[in-house]
Amino acid sequence: MTTVIDGKQVAASVIDAVKTASQALKDQAGVKTGLAVVIVGNDPASHAYVSSKSKMAKECGFTSVQHTLPEETTQEELAALVQTLNKDESLHGILVQLPLPKHLNSEPIIQSILPEKDVDGLHVVNAGKLATGDLDGGLVSCTPAGAMVFVKRTHGEDLSGLNAVVIGRSNLFGKPMAQLLLAANATVTIAHSRTRDLAAVCRNADILVAAVGRPEMVKADWVKPGATVIDVGINRIAAPERGEGKSRLVGDVAFEECAEVAAVITPVPGGVGPMTIAMLMANTVIAAYRKAGKTAPKF
Ligand SMILES: NC(=O)c1ccc[n+]([C@@H]2O[C@H](COP(=O)([O-])OP(=O)(O)OC[C@H]3O[C@@H](n4cnc5c(N)ncnc54)[C@H](OP(=O)(O)O)[C@@H]3O)[C@@H](O)[C@H]2O)c1
Repeated sequence: MTTVIDGKQVAASVIDAVKTASQALKDQAGVKTGLAVVIVGNDPASHAYVSSKSKMAKECGFTSVQHTLPEETTQEELAALVQTLNKDESLHGILVQLPLPKHLNSEPIIQSILPEKDVDGLHVVNAGKLATGDLDGGLVSCTPAGAMVFVKRTHGEDLSGLNAVVIGRSNLFGKPMAQLLLAANATVTIAHSRTRDLAAVCRNADILVAAVGRPEMVKADWVKPGATVIDVGINRIAAPERGEGKSRLVGDVAFEECAEVAAVITPVPGGVGPMTIAMLMANTVIAAYRKAGKTAPKF
């Protein structure tokens, strides 16, 4: 029987643990965890993401600050806001919602966030800590951290002897995911658009993680029988069967057919997606514990 991971349920359990941790920090050290979320411009999808992040932060008992800046905000104005938030002792996490409007350069903005407040895990210091195996010192990018929760709940903390294949090599997901798997002792292959015979590479995977952005690319005959398949892709495709002009979300994995071969698989939607926001909350409370000089909880 194939296990379909319920990402909403796992995310809810992480959120419960975050709530407990933030309350304990308040009780023991008098510290209220604080998260600032910055959004620039009018992109409706980004606004929806940001308001759910701010709402979740409040539910976790955090101080939740949202800065909504107009489309015409300049690079200097945004940089100045980040500096102000860096200096604010009541804030432990800063998230600048991406993508920024085209006239703004996101990289210097992300790199100007203090690494210890970079709860998105995108600062080079945090990427470097992960790359050097320092998992307890930095902050890990939220989506790979969330996908890794699934892997560890399925296989335990030690992945010795298991082959893992990550399709995709982005800084946001593929590279940090590969490093997390490596840190847990898996034998890791990173595949990408230049990989030869991708299907054969994937068939070797006990743990197959797809983060490509191509609808239902991974087919059943790419999957090793009994493998764990983690689908990170979010692709909107036309769904004429639901009516004219309708669409639906699918992952990078052809779910129905792969579920017949895999032992464990994540659906889209409802798999990795809900974990991203949960791990953002986890990173924020971890940052608050560290600032208070306390041992941070693990999620
Ligand atoms: N919250 C979430 O659930 C969440 C978060 C982040 C991302 N995502 C989703 O995950 C997917 C990937 O995101 P991303 O930011 O990592 O994307 P990205 O930066 O576009 O990277 C995609 C990767 O896929 C590789 N690729 C493209 N076509 C390929 C092919 N035909 N065969 C093998 N590899 C191929 C690319 O290889 P090259 O490097 O060679 O070009 C690249 O490394 C997207 O669908 C995104 O929406 C979801």
